[in-house]
Amino acid sequence: MSRFCPHYPRPAPRRPAVWRMFFSKRRSWLDGLYERSYRMKMGEVHLPGVDLYMVNEPALVHQVMDHAEAFPKHEMLGEALRPLLGDSIFTTNGAVWQRQRTLMNPSFEGARVRKVLGRMRAAGEAMVQRLRAVPAGGVHDVEMEMTHVAADIILRTILSQSLDSEGAQRIFAAFARYQALAPRLMMPAFFGLRWLRPWWQIRRSRRAAAEIRALLETYIRPRFEAARAAGPQAPDAEDDILASLLRVRDEQTGEGFGFDELVDQVAMLFLAGHETSASALSWALHLLAHAPDVQERLHEEACRVLPALDTEGANAIKDLTLARDVFRETLRLFPPVGFLARQSAQACPMRDKTIPAGGSVVVSPWLIQRHRELWARPDEFDPDRYSREPAEAGAEADQPPARESLRQAYLPFGMGPRICIGAAFALQEAALILALVARHVRVAPLPGEVPEPVGRLTIRAENGIRLKIFPREAG
Ligand code: HEM
Repeated sequence: MSRFCPHYPRPAPRRPAVWRMFFSKRRSWLDGLYERSYRMKMGEVHLPGVDLYMVNEPALVHQVMDHAEAFPKHEMLGEALRPLLGDSIFTTNGAVWQRQRTLMNPSFEGARVRKVLGRMRAAGEAMVQRLRAVPAGGVHDVEMEMTHVAADIILRTILSQSLDSEGAQRIFAAFARYQALAPRLMMPAFFGLRWLRPWWQIRRSRRAAAEIRALLETYIRPRFEAARAAGPQAPDAEDDILASLLRVRDEQTGEGFGFDELVDQVAMLFLAGHETSASALSWALHLLAHAPDVQERLHEEACRVLPALDTEGANAIKDLTLARDVFRETLRLFPPVGFLARQSAQACPMRDKTIPAGGSVVVSPWLIQRHRELWARPDEFDPDRYSREPAEAGAEADQPPARESLRQAYLPFGMGPRICIGAAFALQEAALILALVARHVRVAPLPGEVPEPVGRLTIRAENGIRLKIFPREAG
């Protein structure tokens, strides 16, 4: 059976010269990959002052990802994101990170995430209205649409604000400016070439960051002060994620988040929580548009399961099994966070190499999840690979079965102690949004348009993803 293989930048046959790699990575790091990148167990690049190691082999990936102290987050992440995110959980290391993670975990536990389903649905229903307003066969930029709904969801669930409000619109616009600049400032820092960062871009990025933080503070300040005055037991008027972050206390010290630290976390949740989901949902619709059979099955599933949300509540989400598998497979082919950057705390042997102290170590979900020796038919969109029996999947291609790979070579949410705190939130959101889209509209490709994946802050399409929209009779 032939399945859809989405386009991605064709890898160069051989490793490009280092200077070419650097300049191609400034547009998109996907352009710097070459054929062996998708086969090798480990690779290395050396530049003056920079030793960079790429780790693909599952056992080595575990060695890096499971040991956060030996391989802390890369300092370039903190440097590039600090103006916006301050010392947020995404970039901190050691004891500071451990405390922040302990304080934030309760806000993202399963039961807490199910509680925000109603808010996700409200944003999803507003999206359905926008999609159904497109004339039959009309062309719509689904990347913009998915960015809108993901931002709306994160604002409603964290701050109880809908994206329609003026303040939320301003936050969203400033985030878009910041996101466009961040990768341009991050890549030179990663290659030890900080001086190559244009000063006017640094200034524009800092201005956008300051504006976002000032806007967020206007929402957070009154609630922070009210919570401090009332004490940890007093209920907040809202039941959003900010309310739970305001309530939480460190068991040993009895202290909660300080004000600036709280703004850092909220800014980070907004960025990490909407940019990633927007990217993955956009690619999911692109894949569905090219796999009409899967889309029809998803429509049937959505018509059957979505009404049960009213009678059975959030538990019914688990019955959206195909929606979840479509999303899983999208995260394999287009992992929003395409590479994870770490730095070796001390000299460390790995295979036949020694990573020096301070050496940059990159684990790339993009490469590992398309690795020729770890996945059967690595470039095919096959959402059913997760439910197929391992023997069947293996026999089909004489390659590692998908289920086996799923444990070994699948890490769209990272792995180990720094695994994404919002994974359950993102999976619930994605199953809901994909089911709502499939229930109410059909999407079809636009002849001749092939979205070009580019690696920026997340993996996005260079010129958006435009699809034709046809309204359906909702069953
Ligand atoms: C499809 C959606 C998402 C994907 C693919 C994704 C992916 C990731 C990945 C790969 C990491 C680990 C980064 C590393 O190890 O360097 C991460 C961390 C994180 N993500 Fe997500 N994420 C998603 C959605 C979310 C959402 C919805 C939230 C919150 C609302 C969130 C919050 C976080 C936080 C706080 C961290 C840092 C955790 C720590 O370091 O302890 N993410 N995410």
